[in-house]
Amino acid sequence: MQKQQAKIRIEKLKKEISHYRYLYHVLDKSEISDAALDSLKNELAKLEREYPEFITADSPTQRVGGKPLDKFIKAKHSSPMMSLFDAFNPEDMRDWEKRMARIMQGQKFDYYCELKLDGLAAALIYEKSRFVLGATRGDGAIGENVTQNLRTIEAIPLVLRQPTEKELAELNLSKEARQKLRAVLNSGNFEVRGEIIMNKKVFAELNKKYKQQGRPLLANPRNAAAGSIRQLDPKFAAERKLDCYIYSIATDLGLEQHEQEIELAKLLGFKALKYNKYCKDLNEVLAFHNQQEQNKDKLPCYCDGVVVKVNKLSLWPRLGAVGKGPRYIMAYKFAAEQATTKITDIVWQVGRTGVLTPTAVLEPIWVGGATISRATLHNMDEIERLGLKIGDTVIIERAGDVIPKVVKVLPGLRQGKEKKIAVPKLCPMCGGAAANISGEVACRCVNKDCYAVNLRRLTHWASKGALDIDGLGPKIIEQLMKEGLVGDIVDFYKLTAGDLKPLERFADKSAENLVEAIKAKKEIDLPRFIYGLGIRHVGEESAIDLAKTFGSLEKIKQAKLEELERIYDFGEVMAKSVYEWFRDKHNLELLNNLEGAGLKINQHIITKKKQVLDGQSFVLTGVLSSLTRDEAKRKIRELGGQTPSSVSKNTDFVVAGENPGSKYDKAKKLGVRIINEEEFLKIIK
Ligand code: IVH
Repeated sequence: MQKQQAKIRIEKLKKEISHYRYLYHVLDKSEISDAALDSLKNELAKLEREYPEFITADSPTQRVGGKPLDKFIKAKHSSPMMSLFDAFNPEDMRDWEKRMARIMQGQKFDYYCELKLDGLAAALIYEKSRFVLGATRGDGAIGENVTQNLRTIEAIPLVLRQPTEKELAELNLSKEARQKLRAVLNSGNFEVRGEIIMNKKVFAELNKKYKQQGRPLLANPRNAAAGSIRQLDPKFAAERKLDCYIYSIATDLGLEQHEQEIELAKLLGFKALKYNKYCKDLNEVLAFHNQQEQNKDKLPCYCDGVVVKVNKLSLWPRLGAVGKGPRYIMAYKFAAEQATTKITDIVWQVGRTGVLTPTAVLEPIWVGGATISRATLHNMDEIERLGLKIGDTVIIERAGDVIPKVVKVLPGLRQGKEKKIAVPKLCPMCGGAAANISGEVACRCVNKDCYAVNLRRLTHWASKGALDIDGLGPKIIEQLMKEGLVGDIVDFYKLTAGDLKPLERFADKSAENLVEAIKAKKEIDLPRFIYGLGIRHVGEESAIDLAKTFGSLEKIKQAKLEELERIYDFGEVMAKSVYEWFRDKHNLELLNNLEGAGLKINQHIITKKKQVLDGQSFVLTGVLSSLTRDEAKRKIRELGGQTPSSVSKNTDFVVAGENPGSKYDKAKKLGVRIINEEEFLKIIK
């Protein structure tokens, strides 16, 4: 993106984010999901990293929390309640560890992992062991005094429990630390921080009750928790049976590890999630994250990631904080099911019955644990319902194993260059007429063969003699066409594993394998490439002839009709077919697109390297036992030989398998050398 465009985008993003943040944090309303809002914020943060000159104090990336509500008494925090930096994949986590290791000169780290609860942060302050003040985070420096509401939560002790000496001994503290801890516990002046949440079960029961009573339903557990904590009358909080889990102790107790803080908090009567785990290194952290992500739907409360904390507390002040968050903690998020991205194009796919279906082409985006590049749109009605234009920023949803869809357009981010989407008048595949059938939403290509021709074209491209792409057979290609993922050859090269994973017959591994297999054949010999284009009358043999005669795709493209006619074995019809193919606008566009998709054609093979079977011709007859006739022919051609279909006196060898036919007799008559399968295999070895 150019600088000027970046500036405009940054301004638009800031406005949009502020709008949703206000709705969410101040009014407790959410019009878009947290994940979608996060996605906008990430884009903004990324642009600001690239163009720091556009960072302003009012940017959403530059502030910590929401505005405190006026209706509560303000409470100043003893130390800032910061927010956390997010990581989205193992690379982010490794980079984080590397950054810390650089600061700490090669120090090794162990970690303590907690689930990232999705609720409302609270500071709980005890004096002489009694709960005296509970505050929300507010803007990080000043929060709201919500003590009365928090007192309704049974998970928050009103009086601190006194741990026994034996229990304290189990924390394995140094003598010094134990003395310091004793002194603080004796004073009873103490602060912990944690998350106020509503459990899934309570949320479901409450909504069931509200439904029966005809009351408005709660949008989600986070809002339900936040909403009731911000009510002046504590009866709302009490009714909502909230829960509280502790994740840090704000008072300096002289402890050595964060793990001990959590253990101590439990001894004092607080709740901590039983899923917390000590991890000796980053690999264990990654495994824990993986396991919890698989398990997240079974957890009693909503969690959106794992909070990973450097366990050794002495390192915390040395690592310090940057901007909004500490360096020694990272929130490693679970794959969000929604994200924002831009629609770069709409492609129309032709279905088996000729129906044209629109698919949105996206700027590739990481969502639901995978990168995706396409989303379904179903039909024109859906486009109209969404109010979608090409160039729009949209919210994409990819939940579990479901095909990604566009759920919302964000018109506030438009720049005026977005394009209206129109139903095509011509079929994008065959160029024939497309018609709106009355009484149907669908638009159809009226050419009955269109779908079948396209399927054949795509299948031919991936077939053995052409690109030879492993695992990309007719069934899979048909499935990809049906799902709107592939309509043209070039679409194969845009597929991501994320596009394939939700499809039937695909699992994580097979999706990745297919994308890899396509990638593996991105460098391709010229004859295979030409054959793959499916030019009428051009078989494998003539593709080789073309490649050998002209040496490069560019030269074939420019070849005059006479030059093509001059090729040995090329008739007028074949020459004309090739000539015309390379004069067709769509075909030239395809070649350009393939180049753009990163396809590399190996031209030197034909022109430079002298090959073993150069100039020798083989005619095959009868059945071979170790390979098919097509395979044998391909092998001969790969080694530079020719495989004419009939025997003449110019034939060098006739390869005779079981039950040879008339070619065998003709070879004998003409005195052509006949070899058996064994001799043939030796030659091609
Ligand atoms: S540690 C410096 N641990 O996530 C802030 N936070 O996005 C220390 N959260 O404001 C927070 N679960 O409200 C921590 N296990 C956990 C958490 C957690 C949820 C919340 C917390 C924080 C927000 C940051």
